[in-house]
Amino acid sequence: MSLAVHDRLKVVPLTRRIGAEILGVDITQALDAAERDAIERALLEHQVIFFRDQPFELESQKAFGRLFGALHVHPGAPGPEGHPEILRIHADAQSRHVAGEAWHSDVSCDLAPPLGSILHLHTVPASGGDTLFASMYAAYDALSDRFKALLEGLTATHDGEHVYRGRYRHLGANDAGRSYPRASHPVVRTHPATGRKALFVNPGFTTHIDGLPRAESDALLAFLHAHSQKPDFQVRFRWRPHSVAFWDNRCVQHLAIWDYFPDVRSGHRVTIQGDRPF
Ligand code: SIN
Repeated sequence: MSLAVHDRLKVVPLTRRIGAEILGVDITQALDAAERDAIERALLEHQVIFFRDQPFELESQKAFGRLFGALHVHPGAPGPEGHPEILRIHADAQSRHVAGEAWHSDVSCDLAPPLGSILHLHTVPASGGDTLFASMYAAYDALSDRFKALLEGLTATHDGEHVYRGRYRHLGANDAGRSYPRASHPVVRTHPATGRKALFVNPGFTTHIDGLPRAESDALLAFLHAHSQKPDFQVRFRWRPHSVAFWDNRCVQHLAIWDYFPDVRSGHRVTIQGDRPF
């Protein structure tokens, strides 16, 4: 199915629950208000949207991101010279780990975690290097009413310490003496724009459910993580050079598959500031 929402811009859903490809728009150039609004509507409906053949420069990628909010500066990773709002996503034969190897919502340890992220890859391996995206609306909706009632009112702690400590030393970051964000968020959050409920715990950052004994917290998180990772809730994106993915961190988790070592996969992400979850 393809839906025309603007003269040329088309939204092509990839699955019924999550993901759509956007055709007929050049996001490396200034957009008119109707194009910008159509892209925002597509993001809110499909949760992650994909574009092909968008050779962003750092400035044009930042300009596109700023159409949707102020840009976020990563708490650990230094950006390229003069671009603190840019997160370099890079893997090659020297890499020991890559960004996003565990399911996560970006920087969910922040008090006000990012609204969304826009990733542009200019270099991709000949095969592999896909990204999986999972709808946390779909994961929440699939729970029974009894289980939803159990989760009501629970909060969980999200911590950046174990994720970021020492992680960016190879980029010249010295984090001795500094602390990383840690925050408590509702286990089920309400999306501020759509009003829909989404699960908001992830294996990358969430350390425990607040106020529960460790064994109960571990068991509940293990169930929620396994449930959230069901293929039924996912879309899988196959990158090409200059593809762009724009995801809504308020209702999506993602996982970058590192199955292409020692090949190079490289690009940049801009991240948009968000609100405090409720
Ligand atoms: C990330 O932003 O977590 C990385 C995603 C990816 O490299 O596909």
